Amino acid sequence: MQPTRTVSIIGTGSYVPEKVVTNKDLEEIVATTDEWIYSRTGMRERHIAAPDQAASDLGFEAAKKAIADAGITVDEIDLIIVATLSPDMFFPSTACFVQEKLGAKKAYCYDLGAACSGFLYAMETAKNQIATGAIETALVIGSEKMSTFIDWEDRATCILFGDGAGAAVLRAGGEGRGVMKASLGSDGSLANLLWTPGGGSRQPISHEMIEKREHYLKMEGREVFKHAVVRMGEAVNDALAKNNVSVDDIACFIPHQANIRIIDAIAKRLGVADRMYTNVEKYANTSSAALAIALDEAARDGTIQRGDLVAMTVFGGGFTWGANVLEWNKS
Ligand code: ACO
Repeated sequence: MQPTRTVSIIGTGSYVPEKVVTNKDLEEIVATTDEWIYSRTGMRERHIAAPDQAASDLGFEAAKKAIADAGITVDEIDLIIVATLSPDMFFPSTACFVQEKLGAKKAYCYDLGAACSGFLYAMETAKNQIATGAIETALVIGSEKMSTFIDWEDRATCILFGDGAGAAVLRAGGEGRGVMKASLGSDGSLANLLWTPGGGSRQPISHEMIEKREHYLKMEGREVFKHAVVRMGEAVNDALAKNNVSVDDIACFIPHQANIRIIDAIAKRLGVADRMYTNVEKYANTSSAALAIALDEAARDGTIQRGDLVAMTVFGGGFTWGANVLEWNKS
């Protein structure tokens, strides 16, 4: 067995584009109302990227802040992982574009595809490479320009998403337990409940595919809702058990920001309504960026204090899901 080392988050950052689209604004685009959206989702507004901003541009802005917060130079970064379902291009990876913008020449770079679960999956992947001694420092980013891949004629989905990015710098060492064990899971048999069916090698780009709007995200909202609640609840319990901590030990729970009703249902199951962090009202669902943005905001607004145990949980297309626990030891 490989030796393992403590791994800590030493910096976080986030970025959302300037343009704000409120529920009222959406009333002009599709047949919906502010009341319907807020009561079903808890969302009031979302940020939408400019036409010339791609996922790597959003990720770059978040990464700069995380690197500054960590107090390191870009030359110290060994690895860059970008979790995204809205990459700049199929290839090369969005992570390579971020590397170029940062000038982080030493880093090796790749993207990770786990839909909305991507940031937690990427954290776990980076943590394990650091823990085994393969590398010292990783930059993990969740970045999404969801506005490009949602169907602005489908009121059931277009109201749910926003654009943004969050980042964390992970490094070997630190006091306490740092980033602890994760519990991850997937179920490919349910892929068709949340996917973008067209544009890849299964249904290549064609006039017919585009006319059928298959290049846009499709979702069975009610099914996704049910599975999200069950899987995130189970994942948190599993992660707590793996790390020998109880629900009462956790100072703050940070769930994927998909919908306030999903978050409330998980809080009720776990009995932790007083400790759930939410910002879905401001940003809507930013997919793999959501957890990263929430972690950064919770750290900056003082919700998370040094020495606190934090549990995070995610759910997304695939289906994919997961949870992890960390001791916040950032000085
Ligand atoms: N405005 C007004 N009415 C709407 C809208 C809208 N934006 N969207 C749907 N409706 C209508 C439907 O047409 C339907 O009308 P009908 O009864 O006349 O047929 C009615 O509202 C009810 O529709 P449902 O889809 O059953 O509404 P529900 O209460 O389930 O809420 C929602 C829909 C908000 C999408 C919910 O199912 C949900 O949140 N699901 C989880 C979605 C999610 O979080 N996905 C992402 C998670 S994973 C990831 O992040 C990728």
